[in-house]
Amino acid sequence: MSKVYISLKEAKHQFSILLDSITESDKADFISSIYKEQICNETINDYLDDSNNFENKGEGFLDDPIATLNMIANDVKKRVPLDAILSSENIRSPTIGENADCLPHLTVHVDEFLYDEEDVEELVEEGKLKRNYCKDCGSKNIDSLIFTSHSMSRADLFFIFNNSLPTLENKVVLDIGSRLGSVLYGAYVFTDASRIIGVEMNEDLCKLQKDIVSKYNMEDRIEVLHKRIEEAEDIVQLADVIIINNPFEFYVSENEHIQIWQFLRRHIKRETILITCPHLETIFKSLNTQIHLSNWVKPYNLGWNEANMFYNKTNTEDTSFNDIAFYEII
Ligand SMILES: C[S@@+](CC[C@H](N)C(=O)[O-])C[C@H]1O[C@@H](n2cnc3c(N)ncnc32)[C@H](O)[C@@H]1O
Repeated sequence: MSKVYISLKEAKHQFSILLDSITESDKADFISSIYKEQICNETINDYLDDSNNFENKGEGFLDDPIATLNMIANDVKKRVPLDAILSSENIRSPTIGENADCLPHLTVHVDEFLYDEEDVEELVEEGKLKRNYCKDCGSKNIDSLIFTSHSMSRADLFFIFNNSLPTLENKVVLDIGSRLGSVLYGAYVFTDASRIIGVEMNEDLCKLQKDIVSKYNMEDRIEVLHKRIEEAEDIVQLADVIIINNPFEFYVSENEHIQIWQFLRRHIKRETILITCPHLETIFKSLNTQIHLSNWVKPYNLGWNEANMFYNKTNTEDTSFNDIAFYEII
């Protein structure tokens, strides 16, 4: 039997009858879940799953933010090793905190901007990645390897920039430790921020980001600065939105880590929106920064607006983005 379609007008009419039939308090959840389950997931997954689907599209496809991120991820994959760690980097194992178990021989670096869960599954099936290690060689006494990513995933970027923040017109976004540039590209395709600045201490990573920015004509709003964040006081003071995706734990000593937070405490201006992963509370639990969080930040109210109505974080069952926290500097 062929499917019967109704007009848009009729669909709206039926939808409003449906809305009228549920309580006010359920309405937000209803709309949010419809969007997430029926539309948003389908759209994101269509693109994220089929990472080659851009090949046959014309130039206009660059107007599609998710497809653009997929294209960039594919380009970057070709330029970095499978673990996306460059030979010029010096990744260290944290000795304190929640990642203190990330010993080099037990840790697999899988960059979530480049590889989503399904890509990882494919890599495991192809034998390119292993999930487990043998605790007692030759026996079945195995344990799980620890997977860690040094970039935000494309879904994280969608959640932050597309669904959570207000308009960023005339605002400056700063990514501290911009690495492959994922946050910069996410801010570019999903927001209208006037300046998007990445500060990265590794020169090769800066070159990679600059090449991508140039290839995708993003130079009008993205700048990549090769320096340590401690040397970028002016930029820190300028920023209206700052992303801090665990940039220091695997890269600097504990002492430097503390000093960088004290530097940020001194220079980030009031009312700046700070987005961190993990939560500051988690980072500061094992790091003696002497910073009293309640004197520095308050939770940033994502509020209820048209942009984020489709992603209703009051749904406590959804844990997808639980490590990402939003603060406002007080
Ligand atoms: C976890 S990655 C963050 C990647 C990126 N922001 C994202 O979320 O996709 C951390 C990056 O910060 C850089 N980094 C670490 N300490 C830094 C510092 N003091 N100044 C500038 N960059 C730093 C590292 O080289 C690394 O590329």
